[in-house]
Amino acid sequence: MSAVPTVQSFSSVYAERVNPQWVRLLDLLQMNATYERCSGAELFTAGGRRVLDFLSGYCVHNAGHNHPAIVAALKDELDRGGPAMLQSHVPELAAQLAQRLTERAGGRMERVFFCSSGSEGVETAIKFARAHTRRAGLLYAEHAFHGLTCGALSLMSDPFWGRGFGPMLPETTAVPFGDAAALERQLASKKFAAFFVEPIQSEGGIQLPPPGYLKTAQELCRRYGTLLVLDEVQTGMYRTGDFLAAHRFGVEPDMVILAKALSGGLVPVGAVLMPRAVSDSVFTSLQRALVHASTFGENALAMRAGLATLDVLEHESLGQRAGLLGAELRRRLDAALAPYEMVKQVRGAGMLSGIEFQAPRRLSLRLAFAAFERIHPAMFGQVLVMRLFRDHGILSQICGNHFMVLKVAPPLVVDEAQIQAFVRAIRQVMEEAHQSKGFWTEAIGMATRLLQV
Ligand SMILES: Cc1ncc(COP(=O)(O)O)c(C=O)c1O
Repeated sequence: MSAVPTVQSFSSVYAERVNPQWVRLLDLLQMNATYERCSGAELFTAGGRRVLDFLSGYCVHNAGHNHPAIVAALKDELDRGGPAMLQSHVPELAAQLAQRLTERAGGRMERVFFCSSGSEGVETAIKFARAHTRRAGLLYAEHAFHGLTCGALSLMSDPFWGRGFGPMLPETTAVPFGDAAALERQLASKKFAAFFVEPIQSEGGIQLPPPGYLKTAQELCRRYGTLLVLDEVQTGMYRTGDFLAAHRFGVEPDMVILAKALSGGLVPVGAVLMPRAVSDSVFTSLQRALVHASTFGENALAMRAGLATLDVLEHESLGQRAGLLGAELRRRLDAALAPYEMVKQVRGAGMLSGIEFQAPRRLSLRLAFAAFERIHPAMFGQVLVMRLFRDHGILSQICGNHFMVLKVAPPLVVDEAQIQAFVRAIRQVMEEAHQSKGFWTEAIGMATRLLQV
C-alpha cells in the first residue's frame, strides 16, 4: 500500500501524477502556496499568510469563499440522504432551480438544461441551436473564450488553445467583436444556427461591447433566423451588477449559458436557459426524452448549492454592491494609476474590471519592455501578477486571450478596505515598474528561468 503523501509532498505527487507544468509555473511565479482556509475574499495559507482574492477562480466565487449559508445547505442536503443521481426520477431541486433561474432571467427564457461546466453548456447550446434551426453554421466573436472541449474550442479564434487538438468543428466563422456590419454580412448567408458571444469579453481583455452592439446583434440574428447565444459564464450571477449582463445591455437573447458562480464555488454546475420552442426542438418525442442528457447535470448537491447561492446573492444585495463598489474601484484605480505611462486604460462593469497596460514611451523603459516581450508576450503581466502576490498578498491573473490586461474580479462580498489594499498594491507595483531597475532585472531573470524549464 502506498503511503499517504504529507502536505509538503503534495506538490511533487501532483507534479508526478497530474500536471508537472502547472506546478513548475506556480513555482516560477512564486505562487505555489498551500491554502488551509478560505472565507469571503480572503485565503489563508498554511504559513499563516492572508491573501486577498482578486480573481475569484475566474468569477466562480461571487458569493465569497465558503459562504456559511451555502455550506449549511450542502451539509443539510447530505444529511437528508435524499435521492441523488438516480437518473430515474423527476428531481425536485432541478425544478426549483430552473424556476428561479427562468424567473430571474425573464424575457424568452422558459426552460433550463443543467450540466456540470461552462464548456458543457456551450456544447449543449451548439446542439440545441442546430436542432432548432436545422442549420449547421456557428458564428462567434474573435478573441472569445468559450471553454476547452472540442465544440467550445471551435468557437475560439486564438490559435493557442486549439493547436494540436484539431480538427475542430467545421462551419464555424469568427467575426470581430463589436462590429455589427461584419456580423450582418455573415448572418445574411442564412447558414448560421447561432451567434455565440460573451456580453463582455472576459479573457479577451474585459472588452465592453460598443453602445447598442448587442441590441443590434439581437435584431440582426432575428432577421436572419440565427439564435443569439450569450455566454454569461463569467458575466452572469450578478457579477456585472445585474443578474445577467444581458439585462444591463437591454438584450433578450435566445439562449444564456451560466456556470461558475451558479453553485457558490463549491460544486460543479452549468445551466443553459432557452425558450420552450428551442428545448422542444430537441425533446420532440418520448423516444428522445433523454437524447441530450448528462449524468451529473441535475445532481442534488449542485441544485441545492444553486438555490442557496441565489438566496445569498439576493438577500445580501450583492449585485447592487458589485455595481457600486465596482464603480468605486475603477474610480480609485483611475486616480492612482494616472501618473503611469504604461497604464493605458481601466475599464469594466460591476465587479469585473480590467487594467490594460501598454508599451512605455520612455527609451530606458522601452528597451527593457521590448526585450521582455520578445521572451514571451505574457511575461510583463505575469511579473505584475507575481509581485502582487509575493509582495502584497493579492491573488490576480492576466486575461487568457489578452496578456496586457490584468483582470480585477474579487468576490462580490469584497469590502472597501480590501479594495483600497488592492489599489495601493497595484500602484506600488506600477511605481516599481516605472522607477526601479530591480523590477526589470528580476523580471528578466524570471524570463530566463522560464526559458530554461
Ligand atoms: C466565458 C466562458 N465561457 C465558458 C467557459 C468554460 O467554462 P468551464 O471551464 O466551466 O468549462 C469559461 C471558462 O473560463 C468562460 O470564461
